Amino acid sequence: MYRNYLQEPFFETISKVASASNLEVYVIGGFVRDAFLGRKSKDVDIVVLGSGIDLAHAVAAELPGHPSVNFYSNFGTANLRSEGWEIEFVGARKESYQRDSRKPLVENGTLEDDQNRRDFTINALALCLNPERFGELIDPFGGREDLHTKTIRTPLDPDITFSDDPLRMMRAIRFATQLDFAIQESTRDSISRNSERIEIVSMERVIDELNKIILSPVPSRGFLLLHQTGLLQRIFPEFCLLEGVEKKNGLSHKDNFYHTLQVLDNVARESDDLWLRWAAILHDIAKPQTKRFEEGHGWTFHGHEDKGSRMVKPLFRRMRLPLNEKMKYVEKLVLLHLRPIVLSKEEVTDSAIRRLIVEAGDEVNDLLLLCKADITSKNEVKVKRYLRNLELVKIKIADVTERDRLNNWQPPISGNDIMDAFVISDPKDIGRVKLAVREAILDGNIPNEHGAAREFMLKKGGELGLKRKSH
Ligand code: CTP
Repeated sequence: MYRNYLQEPFFETISKVASASNLEVYVIGGFVRDAFLGRKSKDVDIVVLGSGIDLAHAVAAELPGHPSVNFYSNFGTANLRSEGWEIEFVGARKESYQRDSRKPLVENGTLEDDQNRRDFTINALALCLNPERFGELIDPFGGREDLHTKTIRTPLDPDITFSDDPLRMMRAIRFATQLDFAIQESTRDSISRNSERIEIVSMERVIDELNKIILSPVPSRGFLLLHQTGLLQRIFPEFCLLEGVEKKNGLSHKDNFYHTLQVLDNVARESDDLWLRWAAILHDIAKPQTKRFEEGHGWTFHGHEDKGSRMVKPLFRRMRLPLNEKMKYVEKLVLLHLRPIVLSKEEVTDSAIRRLIVEAGDEVNDLLLLCKADITSKNEVKVKRYLRNLELVKIKIADVTERDRLNNWQPPISGNDIMDAFVISDPKDIGRVKLAVREAILDGNIPNEHGAAREFMLKKGGELGLKRKSH
């Protein structure tokens, strides 16, 4: 008996309401799995041998505040929110479970039918809620044991489970990565065999799973599994192009596939931000397209940061990722990812640091984090030197920021200031003066202050032959 997992008062309510109508009722799926794993979950799936919609309404009437019920007659499902919990009700069914399936297929079944049609043994565990069996575990496929041995396995022949919903191939890898589980061999072989079937699944659902893999503690594990099973080639071919090493005149370059995964894991250790992790995934994405062998020099990838940054939008569009400020953030980080390290190799001038601060804006710390994660050389001496230099750049950035107050920088002279001061016949002159003021500040020739900038503006306007307005 596992009553201790069912202490929330709403379980008691569901138990009472269902029993009053003589209905068998269970909590099943992710909540039970997570309870055994000691993970917190606020999503609860309830299966009833009867109508899920009717039960949801009857339960809502007994819960504090009488929450409203959303229901979908076509699918026989209903859900409600109560005190931060999201509770979903469904009648036990014979057909496959696909939360966001468009097909209304609702044939009533037994609990066993219902468990048979779930994705993995660890997701098919059910706890009974009826009073006399409250907390009894129903585990027909050894899901409990699989939790112990950290195994992902389908309840039925995996070819059947995956053909019911091919997204489950991604889910297998997602759970393995999130929970640090292994996928049982025959289940994994089935994914390899059926990988092309992922193409019938909508990109939104695929990306949802991919993002969960990316947000896992060691995302490279998921990428390697996706790669080994052939799924990565189907969903993200651009990434697969990074793989491989070429050798010429005894010179080879690093394998950018494994390098990128290492950068991703490095970033994942420091930050939970999905978009920073995407920037890590894409930072070298244009290396295959920009690769050249230069005689006497070796392999180069000139311009890969610029080309890579321009690949972000079409990639995001194809993958149904948001085309908003998150995308712009990724573009910016990809574009600038070499800058701190290049800076650290040169003599670090204030003006170079100022330019980086102005271009990176609020993202400057994330950029430094990505840059540090990008140092994956096996040569310890090199790594030490890069890290030391990067630290120097960091200190300089803090110093220049403090001195210049450059965050969210706007030049202290506006177009209006220029129009007020001069008779403007060619509007391009406004831009010319503005640019000159900006450059003078960034180069450190004048301080970042209105008075000094205005004085400079008047001088520059004079040089350009602009006529002063008489006030
Ligand atoms: N399920 C399934 N096949 C799917 C999706 C879901 O069999 N393609 C079943 C599983 O039993 C799963 C339950 O529906 O446990 C709930 O699905 P979902 O909320 O998507 O996943 P969880 O297991 O709850 O995990 P998470 O909250 O981490 O997504």
